[in-house]
Amino acid sequence: MNMRLFISINFDPGAVGEFVAAREALRRWAGRGSFARGENLHLTLAFLGEQPEGRLAQVRDAMLAAAGGARAFTLRFERAGRFRREEGDIWWLAPADCPELFRLQEVLAAELEARGFPLEKRRFSPHLTLARRVRDEGSPGALLPAPVDCRVRDIRLMLSERPEGRLTYTELFRAPFPR
Ligand code: 2AM
Repeated sequence: MNMRLFISINFDPGAVGEFVAAREALRRWAGRGSFARGENLHLTLAFLGEQPEGRLAQVRDAMLAAAGGARAFTLRFERAGRFRREEGDIWWLAPADCPELFRLQEVLAAELEARGFPLEKRRFSPHLTLARRVRDEGSPGALLPAPVDCRVRDIRLMLSERPEGRLTYTELFRAPFPR
């Protein structure tokens, strides 16, 4: 059976609360759109797409190899923006410049590719999606009243499913940084 997989950075409840407040500010402004549930908020490092279950061990190995050489770091979210889309825009929060994040993504992508997982060649554009299919024009104003600092200590393998049409992510595996 195939599984839809991605590898992400996830956030503690305090930070999620602040992201949810930003999402609500966006919702008040936009009215319509598809708004991410709090428990689904994450930052994707690698999107694997549909993979056979038999490949899970290799995904885990790639994650352990990448996490093994990393150390905990802080991501600071302070900026919101949008990707323009025909069907309505994707609104996101983005972290401030963070070399550790780019390094981690680069090493993870290399470990995955070495195990035969083809990844998109697009430049890594780290973002945390708050909403999709938002059609309003103009600016919602500052979505984050103050920067949100998040400590990153691990990376997680997530399964994406839609039971009864409801987008649901389940953590399958966690690779902690050694320090
Ligand atoms: P997004 O937030 O910009 O939609 C699960 O779908 C996660 O993988 C989302 O964070 C999504 O980013 C990301 N992702 C990256 N490439 C994707 C793709 N080609 N299809 C679906 N999701 C993708």
